[in-house]
Amino acid sequence: MDTLVPCLDPGLPLGINHLGDPYARVIVSPPDRDPYAMYEKVRAQGDMVRSKMGAYVSPSHEICNSVLRDNRFITATFDEASMVPITLVKDGEKIVNPVQDSFLMMNPPHHTRLRKLVQPFFTPRALKDRTASIQKIVTDYLDRLDGRFDVVTEFAAQVPIQVIADLLGVPDDDKATFARWGSALAETLDGVWSYKQLKNLHATIIEYNDFIDGLMDERRRNPKDDIVSHLVTQHADLSREDLVATSGLLLFAGFETTVNLIGNGVLKAFENPHTVAPLAQSPEYAEGFVEEVLRLDPPVQYTIRWAKDRLELAGVTLPKGMPVMLLLAAANRDPRVFPDPLKFDPTRSNAREHLAFSAGIHYCIGAGLSRIEGAIALHELFKRFPDLAPDGPVARRKSKLIRGALRLPVRANETKRSLAVKNS
Ligand code: HEM
Repeated sequence: MDTLVPCLDPGLPLGINHLGDPYARVIVSPPDRDPYAMYEKVRAQGDMVRSKMGAYVSPSHEICNSVLRDNRFITATFDEASMVPITLVKDGEKIVNPVQDSFLMMNPPHHTRLRKLVQPFFTPRALKDRTASIQKIVTDYLDRLDGRFDVVTEFAAQVPIQVIADLLGVPDDDKATFARWGSALAETLDGVWSYKQLKNLHATIIEYNDFIDGLMDERRRNPKDDIVSHLVTQHADLSREDLVATSGLLLFAGFETTVNLIGNGVLKAFENPHTVAPLAQSPEYAEGFVEEVLRLDPPVQYTIRWAKDRLELAGVTLPKGMPVMLLLAAANRDPRVFPDPLKFDPTRSNAREHLAFSAGIHYCIGAGLSRIEGAIALHELFKRFPDLAPDGPVARRKSKLIRGALRLPVRANETKRSLAVKNS
């Protein structure tokens, strides 16, 4: 029989007067509302703001950056944080959660050992070899689009799924299933809020485990040039749990975030029409554009670290186990680092100092890959459709951790199309 233990968010959403509380504001604010005004209210309270909910919150670039690089802080395992994990067991075997059981949530030495195994696939050299195939994926998807379409579901979501599926060795036929699983998981990264969501997550994780077990068996028999083949053949001593979680982390971290980078980039281009022509003309400008999207509207809004022992930070004594919520998205607007922080400026000289990919030992392993994907996707999209325009309301994701559009209707080639109709 399956056993299921529900996951609680680190915050306690019910029964708390959250109006003035910085941690509660982030955790219980309506998920699809613009969070940036709320971050500024936190900033007005200081660099290390105490929450009644047993945590500190920091919007400061300096503090976020230093905590992420400070080995006195840990990424909590759920036990250490006194959080209740989702533990699923099927037929006596643990069902691996591709996020909670992955090296993203581990500390050294386990984290170091697992991260090293997949690092070779993300070196600048390895990424250079992938660039032509990313360019082709982008062009192939653009070839299918014209007139009215949804730029998130039909483009921004498709490209990263294809890129990460190729990298991992996931067959093409299974990509759509992954998109569904990814959404179910991403929705719950900052907490499970209903029984329906919990059941959906339960089903998703079980389906994923069955799928990846099958894929690993297949690649053991018939290895190819992909990450799953590499893990099962070169690191056959790894436990099943580590294999399933490492592949799953790459898969889900690899597309749920990059989809939002591209979607948020399209929105920024609409809000700043003067950037569209240079974005369409220059691949170098597109690189700066992507950095500025990451700075001003990052797909991952915050992360949390826990004090390993009692310690001092920025004049505050933190007891052992105290969580510090690091508002990466607020740090990216810290006026002490980014002058005129609300200005969207793709030529900003220090945009790369943003913390959208975190920092320290958990610095995003896919940062280089998503920078390439984002720049190629946005450059080619606006090169193909220089008159791309919004065509209806944007539906936002229901997550406070992951920020992006779920649906973004657009129209393109209006002039060309109306001329064609006239001439026909
Ligand atoms: C715009 C796209 C992306 C964003 C904004 C992003 C953001 C992040 C952030 C903020 C973290 C660290 C979280 C923390 O410190 O607690 C992280 C870690 C990670 N990301 Fe990404 N990511 C992106 C794309 C990717 C891609 C394309 C991949 C893989 C193909 C990937 C794989 C990972 C992995 C494996 C980790 C864990 C690293 C570790 O714990 O050592 N990410 N990402």
